[in-house]
Amino acid sequence: MNAPLQNDVFLRALKRQPIERTPVWMMRQAGRYLPEYRAVRERAGSFMNLCTTPEWACEVTLQPLARYRLDAAILFSDILTIPDAMGLGLEFVEGEGPQFRSPIMSPADVDRLGVPDPETALRYVPDAVRLIRRELDGRVPLIGFSGSPWTLATYMVEGRSSREFRKIKAMLYDAPEVLHRLLATLSKAVSVYLAAQIAAGVDAIMVFDTWGGILTPTQYQTFSLPYAEAALKGIGAPVDERVIPSILFTKGGGQWLSAMADTGYDALGLDWTTDIRAARSEVGDRVALQGNLDPQALYAPIPALKEEVLRIIDRFGHGSGHVFNLGHGVWPDVNPEHVGAMIEAVHEVSPLYHRVIPA
Ligand code: CP3
Repeated sequence: MNAPLQNDVFLRALKRQPIERTPVWMMRQAGRYLPEYRAVRERAGSFMNLCTTPEWACEVTLQPLARYRLDAAILFSDILTIPDAMGLGLEFVEGEGPQFRSPIMSPADVDRLGVPDPETALRYVPDAVRLIRRELDGRVPLIGFSGSPWTLATYMVEGRSSREFRKIKAMLYDAPEVLHRLLATLSKAVSVYLAAQIAAGVDAIMVFDTWGGILTPTQYQTFSLPYAEAALKGIGAPVDERVIPSILFTKGGGQWLSAMADTGYDALGLDWTTDIRAARSEVGDRVALQGNLDPQALYAPIPALKEEVLRIIDRFGHGSGHVFNLGHGVWPDVNPEHVGAMIEAVHEVSPLYHRVIPA
């Protein structure tokens, strides 16, 4: 059983319920910018060993919480665990990022794919969630996550990180029905994967659509958004009837916020290219917003960094519905002291924006 939460400001902000201050966490908060992460990573030998060994995944998940006043923990794992469990063979090559030994090369490859059972092929993920939940002991909520079907498809078809996305775009134009079959399988896989994380104890879920922004508006509405929506709808209600808020983050998705706000997610992640005030007026009271400090602001001198933090909080404005975060993951060479200054600045200035104004 999970201990009752001592700090639920993050969950309340996602539900746009009254809060005393703006919650803060950071994408990739457990990672290479922390020397203690690099030490455990070295002992583990590889990134995948870290992910697949619940004790190590738990240790690195908790590391940033020991340093900073964060309002959420995020499961340490990766979005590419699903394609790995589908048999594509994930490898992380030093300095090159992720690569698949058997990427999707043909329609037959798509038709061979099954939906992995999260309690067998991906057992290490719910195991890590259960362990982290126990070790967290109710200090802050735990976020579970998945890649969006579209973003997973890009890696599975390209076989690795890509700049040009030639192969997936070729599939999109030449064989859209094959791509639709791949995305349908992936949305089922994402649903059961997220359901397993919820059953194991995560308090909120986030879907990373890192590459939605490379699509045209029509393509986004055809190949990305409906499958992210289907993945959410396919999760079903948790057996213990908890309310599990959900966040959809499309990098480069700033022009499609209104459509995203109608999919059933409770909150939208914003990258740093979107003005959070304009975003708020566009989505109204349909969803909460998460973001959106420029990750490069962490390289700025601390006074300039604090000014940027204040600017974002001020542009969101008064009231609930904002979770402070970066607009994308923290870079590995950021100074951890600057991360601390960012988090403290949110604690310092945000209470002003949640005072009840007398009528
Ligand atoms: O946010 C967190 O702290 C939780 C952990 C997390 C990781 N990856 C750990 C990680 C999460 C949520 C992810 C998601 C992820 N993984 C995404 C979507 C989010 C985004 O950044 O847009 C994507 C596209 C991936 C795929 C992936 N994993 C890439 C492209 C890379 C290589 C990046 C690099 O800089 O080398 C990874 C590896 C990875 N995932 C690392 C971490 C901490 C670095 C691995 C290492 O320690 O060497």
